Amino acid sequence: MIFLTALPLFWIMIAASRGGHWGAWMPSSISAFEGTCVSIPCRFDFPDELRPAVVHGVWYFNSPYPKNYPPVVFKSRTQVVHESFQGRSRLLGDLGLRNCTLLLSNLSPELGGKYYFRGDLGGYNQYTFSEHSVLDIIK
Ligand SMILES: *[C@@H]1O[C@H](CO)[C@@H](O)[C@H](O)[C@H]1NC(C)=O
Repeated sequence: MIFLTALPLFWIMIAASRGGHWGAWMPSSISAFEGTCVSIPCRFDFPDELRPAVVHGVWYFNSPYPKNYPPVVFKSRTQVVHESFQGRSRLLGDLGLRNCTLLLSNLSPELGGKYYFRGDLGGYNQYTFSEHSVLDIIK
């Protein structure tokens, strides 16, 4: 598994940015070798007053907008994912703890691209964060 070297700084940034508003924190770029796996460390936040009963989330590939029907990398509500990600994506984080850390395994070149997280607290309280990670697959 490949971890990025900037990780300590990344967690310091998270510690400093709590505050009960919509926001997400993840590395802006990450590299991993073809055939290995990689985790994208991710934290998100939302207004405290929403108090959702259950927190759901979706990871999208290459587009943040559901209207564009981007490939679904992971979806906590249905477990239905795009065929490129079947058996290769797993959520390591606990969404209830606002942790959206994603594991991608058996990496192949077509998995290189942008990864967007969308928090789904039910009803209109869904939000795709503009912060995203660009995954570079090294051959
Ligand atoms: C998020 O979850 C991952 C996987 O369980 C864990 O390694 C990481 O420490 C968690 N991050 C935080 C900030 O709790």
